[in-house]
Amino acid sequence: MKKFSIAMLSMVLAGSMLLTGCGGSKTADSSSDAQDSTTSTSADGGTLRMGTNATFPPYEFVGDDGNVQGIDVDIAAAIADKLGMKLEVTDMEFDSLIPALQSDTVDVALAGMTVTPDRQENVDFSDSYAKGVQVIIVKDGSDIASPDDLEGKNIGVQTGTTGDIYCTGDYGQEHVKQFNNGPLAVAALVNDQIDCVVIDQEPAKNYVAANSGLKILDTAYADEDYAIAIKKGNTELLDKVNGALKELEGDGTLQSIVDKYISADSAAQ
Ligand code: ARG
Repeated sequence: MKKFSIAMLSMVLAGSMLLTGCGGSKTADSSSDAQDSTTSTSADGGTLRMGTNATFPPYEFVGDDGNVQGIDVDIAAAIADKLGMKLEVTDMEFDSLIPALQSDTVDVALAGMTVTPDRQENVDFSDSYAKGVQVIIVKDGSDIASPDDLEGKNIGVQTGTTGDIYCTGDYGQEHVKQFNNGPLAVAALVNDQIDCVVIDQEPAKNYVAANSGLKILDTAYADEDYAIAIKKGNTELLDKVNGALKELEGDGTLQSIVDKYISADSAAQ
């Protein structure tokens, strides 16, 4: 997953992310169609171009088959379906998503993205489709027992995420260590390079399950809302997306997508 993400970063930097047919950048709902890699300039062209950062299970991750999958991909596929569009998914760094919307490189960003006032100055958000929680991951035996103990500690975060933004504000930049993705932050915690990781709860559960000797503190750090980001001012697409979301919520599709990836057991944690 890490290797993939780093490979994707160089592709992004090379400016070629839409032109490749590799791995995670693919069509989710129309299996073998050749992708329109040239000029699909807007969702009206029949393709809904979704940007994401697939290091964030169960919302988005690279599956064993090399394709990006997860809750956000399924939601975007269901929306595209409602709108009679084809879905194209591009994996990129998290902090490239808003610039990609602004430069019309993608139409929507679904990345477990939290609605914040600062982001609202740069993009529009759909109605919220899920709740997020920032939690704290520590090593077993850590002296950090709650957010009150974070002062003076070295905190790992994913660059540009709300964990990064909040911790920088609360504890100072010198105590916040940025990583390209959650798994890299967690690896640094395992290797004792940092004291904790502040990150979203569902990915945190996945990271903790994948590494022994880690735990999530009971007291959360912050509650938030996830929504779909869209280029500022693209009210036509925003309205369509909100209309589709409403239908998907009303007919139970949204819940069944979440249930497919998050078991009631782990959600109860
Ligand atoms: N909810 C957090 C935020 O919006 C983290 C999202 C990270 N998403 C991802 N796909 N890596 O800042």
